[in-house]
Amino acid sequence: MDKQMTATLPPTSDALVLFGATGDLAYKKLFPALYAMVKNGALSVPVVGVASAKWNEARVRERIGESLKAHGGIDDSKAFERLLGLFRFVGGDYADARTFAAIRAALPGARSPAHYLAIPPAMFETVISAIGASGLGDGARLIVEKPFGRDLASARELNRIALSVFPESSIFRIDHYLGKEAIMNILYFRFANSFLEPIWNRNYIHSVSITLSEGFGVEGRGAFYETAGCLRDVVQNHMFQIVALLAMEAPAYRGYGAVQDKTADVFRAMRPIDPGDLVRGQYAGYREEPGVAPDSDVETFCALRMQIDSWRWAGVPWFLRAGKSLADTVAEVVVNLKCPPQRLFEDSAGQDGCSNYLRFRIAPGAAVALAARVKKTGEEFVGEQHELYLQNERPGEASPYERLLTEAMAGNSALFIRQDAVEAAWAVVEPVLHRHSPAICYPRGSWGPQEADSLAARHGAWIKPAACDG
Ligand code: BG6
Repeated sequence: MDKQMTATLPPTSDALVLFGATGDLAYKKLFPALYAMVKNGALSVPVVGVASAKWNEARVRERIGESLKAHGGIDDSKAFERLLGLFRFVGGDYADARTFAAIRAALPGARSPAHYLAIPPAMFETVISAIGASGLGDGARLIVEKPFGRDLASARELNRIALSVFPESSIFRIDHYLGKEAIMNILYFRFANSFLEPIWNRNYIHSVSITLSEGFGVEGRGAFYETAGCLRDVVQNHMFQIVALLAMEAPAYRGYGAVQDKTADVFRAMRPIDPGDLVRGQYAGYREEPGVAPDSDVETFCALRMQIDSWRWAGVPWFLRAGKSLADTVAEVVVNLKCPPQRLFEDSAGQDGCSNYLRFRIAPGAAVALAARVKKTGEEFVGEQHELYLQNERPGEASPYERLLTEAMAGNSALFIRQDAVEAAWAVVEPVLHRHSPAICYPRGSWGPQEADSLAARHGAWIKPAACDG
């Protein structure tokens, strides 16, 4: 058990206030998570959805049903009824004190509500300040969605505002990647096995590449995406969390408090990104998406080369690429091992220079695979590459949001991001937030601009995820 949990357990939140109840995140992820929580008994407290007054309660209830039908279906009508029974809607302007008075009125007797901000970051300050001014912050928790700020200065400012109402122990910064089973397995796999540690360093590892590609575009989120871009949307947070789990030193004790320390250490050891090590791309047609500026230079793709200046990782290049409207929807890590020191067999170096690699497939279909060469039967010393393949997915696993919401409402901060890590991660990307070359147009359905291939070329190539299925 986590050290922090061996102390007295904090009270479970006795209500959930969901700001942004009519938004995209609530529709796609949060309502299905709440429904799953009701089904398994993890949610039985009032839920107050808050959004603009253009909606009324009946319409929002309908939308909850639509959301569930579109994302997994309603297989337990009683649980659905229970969820609707817990749900109230408050429509109003976030800048209007009457909205917060109405939220209070909808929560009679709640002493420790959790406030979930599923709203555009530009609204965070208004809402947090109003929660404080209305007294709704007393004894409460704040659950806030990434991105936490849009650079180092704004992250610090956001934190200052949050801390003016909530103590650090009541702030839960969500990166939903930390609620994914396959991501947690990276931590487990690394530290529950002894065979990795001797080779998990600059002496044996040639390079690490991480791909987070999506085969679809911004899907109606153009206006949000224009304020973010790929680097802020998924690299500084989701991808960096993956890097941290792969690169961190062993946590000093059993528990996530120790993992958070080691995560922040990795970010502090990352070398700030050089503009020459970043390729930005934009898919053809992005500028025609609703909410997107006709001359937008916002990147929908990035590829970057990184260095971690630590004893373990000195000199090992880390390649990260992420983007939308790419050739496939896949998230995976490939840790390439160095070639054997002597080439005894003609074919002993693999296709991309490395014959051994460890692959963590995050999605679709979580798996871990170890690639090795095996001799083909016959007189010649000729072999072929195979993967030892471990499937790591069980149907019916809790979704990341179900897991994280349950944890946050229980007051367990283990799976959430600490402010020092947020700031250290922003410091790494800061040099390229404003100083970078223009986004290069790439065709939809490709692997991004060719320049991304050149970035990795000196160290082999990106391993195309689809080409190495187990
Ligand atoms: C979100 C980003 O944080 O993560 C989206 O805002 C992205 O743009 C999504 O599509 C990816 O998450 P997942 O769980 O589908 O890999």
